[in-house]
Amino acid sequence: MKFFVDTAEIEDIKELAATGLLDGVTTNPSLIAKSGRDFMEVTKEICGIVDGPVSAEVVALDHESMMKEAEILRKIADNVCIKVPLTVDGLKTCKALTEDGTMVNVTLCFSANQALLAAKAGATFISPFVGRHDDNGFDGMDLIEDIRLIYDNYGFETEILVASVRHVTHVLESAKIGADVMTAPPKVIHGLFKHVLTDKGIEGFLADWEKTGQSIT
Ligand code: E4P
Repeated sequence: MKFFVDTAEIEDIKELAATGLLDGVTTNPSLIAKSGRDFMEVTKEICGIVDGPVSAEVVALDHESMMKEAEILRKIADNVCIKVPLTVDGLKTCKALTEDGTMVNVTLCFSANQALLAAKAGATFISPFVGRHDDNGFDGMDLIEDIRLIYDNYGFETEILVASVRHVTHVLESAKIGADVMTAPPKVIHGLFKHVLTDKGIEGFLADWEKTGQSIT
């Protein structure tokens, strides 16, 4: 499963990229606003840090304007992935862009039928929002299971990008189901490294090593 980080904070992206485990980045208008940075400038900077796809979202609502925005965004770098909302115009834009060889991430997916439409429109990635789904009384992971089943039934190549990830269990469940990608805030990715017994084990080994009086030279 590929790991994308869901942020526009440069320092966080650099720190995770240094682990060698980062496969891409997702942003959205809220994350850009939170960063306080210029959209074009910060997206270009992110594209220079990671080799993988960097999702940059259009804000227009009609197909023609989405295409105009996508035209500007895709010139930023070769690894820009255009993010479009799951609407009729969004999927029209998805089809036009993917036919042209541009990566497209279809976002704000909340049903398996919507995911089916995105795959038929040739989406590179579909982003089902599991956390927001949970928040509204549904089970976000059920949605991922349904999409996996449907995509496998028909051999769709659209990658399931689990989004709105709130905790490490979402990551575990995504991997068990066989999602292709997950995108999570930096805090959740850092949480994946942690286990109380790992910390305790290191502490014990170091205490015993100290007693030997040796050093590795
Ligand atoms: C995905 O691409 C979105 O940017 C993101 O995962 C939304 O997460 P949220 O529901 O925590 O805002």
